Amino acid sequence: MASSVIVIEHPLVQHKLTLMRRAETNTATFRSLMTEISMLLAYEVTRDLPLSYEAIKTPMCLMNAPALALDRKLVIVSIMRAGQGLLDGMLQLMPFVRVGHIGLYREPTTLEPVEYYFKVPHDIDECDMLVIDPMVATGNSAVAAVQRLKETNPRSLKLICLLAAPEGIKNFHEQHPEVPIFTAAIDEKLDEHGYILPGLGDAGDRLFGTG
Ligand code: URA
Repeated sequence: MASSVIVIEHPLVQHKLTLMRRAETNTATFRSLMTEISMLLAYEVTRDLPLSYEAIKTPMCLMNAPALALDRKLVIVSIMRAGQGLLDGMLQLMPFVRVGHIGLYREPTTLEPVEYYFKVPHDIDECDMLVIDPMVATGNSAVAAVQRLKETNPRSLKLICLLAAPEGIKNFHEQHPEVPIFTAAIDEKLDEHGYILPGLGDAGDRLFGTG
C-alpha cells in the first residue's frame, strides 16, 4: 500500500501558516492562529466521518437529516506539549471526542523521544484516532507515539501536523506506512539541531511564550 501524505492547500490554511511562520508574530497571535488553523485542518481530516440519518422536525415539516454516526468512537491524542495548540480548536469543532495525551520530549543530543506521560481514555479499542503534533521534524516523536498507541488496538490512525520535513515523513512512513499524514506544508529540510527549515521555530515555545 502506498503511504499517503495529504497537503492541505486551502488558501486560508496557507495564509494563516505564513502569518505563524513570521518571526515577528507574537505569542497571543500565534496561539489564535494555531486554533483557527486547527479547525481548518480538522475540517479536511474528518471528511470521511460516517453519517447516519435521523428523523427530525424542522419548523416546516419532517425530514430525514444527516448527522454524525457517533456510535463510532473518535479519539484525539495530543503529543505534548505543542500538540495542545491544535487541540483547543479541534475540541470546539468536535466537542464529543475523547482526548488522550502522550508526553514526549526530544532528548537534545540524540533527538530521540523520551516518554514522560501516557494517558488515554480506556475502552478505546476499535476507535478512530487522530494524533496531533504541529511539527513532524525527525518524525521520532510521532513514530514513538503511534507505536505506543497501536498497543491500544485502534481501528484507524491519522497523523495531523502543521509542518512536516521530508526526513520526518520518510522516517514515519518507514515505521507506519499505513498511517496517512495530513499537513499544511512540507518544508525543505532539517537543520543540524533537528529544527525544520524554513519552519516556524519551536512551536511549543511560540505557543506558550517560553522561547
Ligand atoms: N519542533 C519544533 O517545535 N520545531 C521544529 O522546527 C522542530 C521540532
